[in-house]
Amino acid sequence: MTIDPNLFRQVLGHFPTGVTVVTATAADGEPVGFTIGSFTSVSLDPPLVGFLPMVDSARWHAIRDSGSFCVNVLGAHQADLCWQFAKSSIEQPFEGVAWHPSPITGSPVIDGSIAWIDCAIEQVIDAGDHHFVLGRVLELEHAHPDTDPNALLFFKGGLGQFQRHG
Ligand SMILES: Cc1cc2nc3c(=O)[nH]c(=O)nc-3n(C[C@H](O)[C@H](O)[C@H](O)COP(=O)(O)O)c2cc1C
Repeated sequence: MTIDPNLFRQVLGHFPTGVTVVTATAADGEPVGFTIGSFTSVSLDPPLVGFLPMVDSARWHAIRDSGSFCVNVLGAHQADLCWQFAKSSIEQPFEGVAWHPSPITGSPVIDGSIAWIDCAIEQVIDAGDHHFVLGRVLELEHAHPDTDPNALLFFKGGLGQFQRHG
């Protein structure tokens, strides 16, 4: 049985995700990063998280070579960064973006992110045209509750934000 790729994309687009930018320091010392919606929490003991990059993604190759990464969870105020880090035509997505190195791996923590998770690559598992990347959590932090951060969400090909009911 074959699955129509357009239907696959449309149906899976009905599953809303958060939006993250996964970053690292490339071998040439330059920051690298791309928009990832497939980020997930995996295990508390040991502390593991995961995401699924395309096997042939150049940015993933640079991140893999670095051996570590930092997950930046974008807030509703960072919608522009979602597109900036998703277009391979933008060669320098960090241009104009304020960031500082994460404490353990030195990967970019983007200013204003509502949470960040600094990780070492634990395992890379084949998953069709993607890899499943398991990261061991080394350090993590969230925005101060007083800043009342709201999450950026991706749904049916567009961006929105979280709305609490009750
Ligand atoms: C909301 C959103 C979520 C995305 N999630 C993923 C993902 O989970 N895995 C992935 O491989 N690409 C994902 N992308 C696409 C990548 O960001 C894009 O292919 C990449 O930045 C291009 O870099 P490359 O040329 O190295 O592949 C997503 C894009 C958007 C807009």
